[in-house]
Amino acid sequence: MAMLPTEEINRIQRTANIVDIIGSYINLEKKGKNYFGVCPFHDDHNPSMSVSEEKQLYTCFVCHATGTVFTFVQNYENVSFIEAVKIVADRVGIELDSGYKVTSKYDKHYELVDLAVKYYQNNLKSSDGKQAREYLKNRGLSEEVINDFAIGLAPKAPDNLTKLLINKGYSEEMLLDTGISNRGSTLYDLFRNRITFPIHNASGKPVGFSARIFDDSDEAKYINTRETKIFKKGEILFNYHRAQNEARRLKYLLVVEGQMDAVRIYSCGLKNVVATMGTALTNEHIKLLKKLNTTIVLCMDNDSAGEKATITNGELLADAQIDLKVLRISGAKDPDEYLLKYSVEEFKDAINHAISFFDFKLNYLKKNKNFSKVDDVSEYVNSVIAELNKTHDDILIDLTVNRLSEEYHIDRNILLNKIIKVETPKTEIIVKPKKIPKARRDKLFDMLIFYMMNGEKYIKLYEQELSYLPDEKYVAIAEDILAFFIKYNYINMADFITYEIDGDNYEKVLDIVDNYALIELNDGEYIGLIEKIKKLIDEERISKLREQLKRESDINAKLKIADEITRLKKRMCNL
Ligand code: CTP
Ligand code: MN
Repeated sequence: MAMLPTEEINRIQRTANIVDIIGSYINLEKKGKNYFGVCPFHDDHNPSMSVSEEKQLYTCFVCHATGTVFTFVQNYENVSFIEAVKIVADRVGIELDSGYKVTSKYDKHYELVDLAVKYYQNNLKSSDGKQAREYLKNRGLSEEVINDFAIGLAPKAPDNLTKLLINKGYSEEMLLDTGISNRGSTLYDLFRNRITFPIHNASGKPVGFSARIFDDSDEAKYINTRETKIFKKGEILFNYHRAQNEARRLKYLLVVEGQMDAVRIYSCGLKNVVATMGTALTNEHIKLLKKLNTTIVLCMDNDSAGEKATITNGELLADAQIDLKVLRISGAKDPDEYLLKYSVEEFKDAINHAISFFDFKLNYLKKNKNFSKVDDVSEYVNSVIAELNKTHDDILIDLTVNRLSEEYHIDRNILLNKIIKVETPKTEIIVKPKKIPKARRDKLFDMLIFYMMNGEKYIKLYEQELSYLPDEKYVAIAEDILAFFIKYNYINMADFITYEIDGDNYEKVLDIVDNYALIELNDGEYIGLIEKIKKLIDEERISKLREQLKRESDINAKLKIADEITRLKKRMCNL
């Protein structure tokens, strides 16, 4: 398979007009030279995203989301860079060969997890898997569902998978890095004698597992892959990659606690479901959910923990202005059990009767209160008022005040006096916060990296003349560029961006690309740049030495430092 050539990516970029493409996702209005729209990447109420037709870039004044037509589609649709390129190509009628392959920094990690997925799947199907298969059958999971979710079985033996992967040539470091193995006196498998549920990231790559016991051992019911470079529980929702399109189509997404709940609901034909895997929603989860632009139906377990989770998760979702409904099931402890006891139709009916988060909170506040006691009534009414003071919805306030007044025979005016009048915020004129001017050294390093991404000769000159930068962040990027070059024996910006896409340096690389995209490369300028950086390194070294000199008390050491300073100064003059 070939890499998608830069020329091809560039051709697509040139053919597509960023205004048309972004304009098909959000409303854009022309003001002066640029177009403006409500930014989909943060909780925006005013149009703070500007799109430049001339530069073919977008940028948000508030959250500083920046990029090209490809990064927009990538982030909006939650797809990989290359998929975004394909979507854009499709929109402008350019046909791409289907064989183009994307490479990313973590390809080896994904490959390894994928091997583990397949290994566990095969093991479940082998004679060793009899008891586990029996268990899954008893839980009512068909072979089709087991295949759809790539459910598998980790063997009893301590290190079967570890050994197999080592024999295949994977390094111990990689096995630890993906969380597949643990280190004891030797490496051993993290999952043993457990049913494995692979977990995928938003673009559908397998990144880890949740694994369940299936006999009556008294170990933890589930254990999960520990946090790794590619598996961050706070950023991943189980089944998100399968659910997103269906959620957009049906205009709602079910959010449940357990992966078994998600598997069950999915297998009943409702594919628009994700599971939090028992954790509270994080800001990263909220971003994933917000992106779908649909109603969220929160359906936590039918116990007091589930009720509390509904409150905490609900507050976060409501704060993010996500349209929210609450479904409390009854007659079963969780959706999985519910669908085993009742029909899909009954479940769908319950979804249709999901209540608003506000109504859920009112019911919740009523719990454990004795309404024949004045104190309890007063406490309840005050807590409802506190909730009302969080909303701007006048109609909701009016209806609720009327209801409280009638139900508990309280004077309406007393209640109304407790409502804090909040003025509707006036539309502010947004002034773009000034970008912090970059330090001189950052500018130099940015430029150097920009050149290096643009040609082999620039990489070679860097190696010969510098091969080092006094800044970790930049060294990391320079090393990535070298690694890319060593691996593929060529370099270009678009492919390098693609390579970095899942890495820690991606944002920085994108920032550099955006800042310097319009610069014309010039060999003379690059050589000048390297000289300037050499000078800068010497300058920084001299000032460090001067500090040392001040602190040093030993006369001989002092002389040595002074000599070194003179040497550096001389060198700088010759540059
Ligand atoms: N969980 C976990 N570790 C545990 C228990 C639970 O990571 N020791 C996570 C799992 O992702 C699980 C979710 O929390 O799916 C919800 O837990 P729970 O409700 O206890 O499990 P169920 O989903 O009901 O699982 P099952 O039906 O298989 O018993
Ligand atoms: Mn369950």
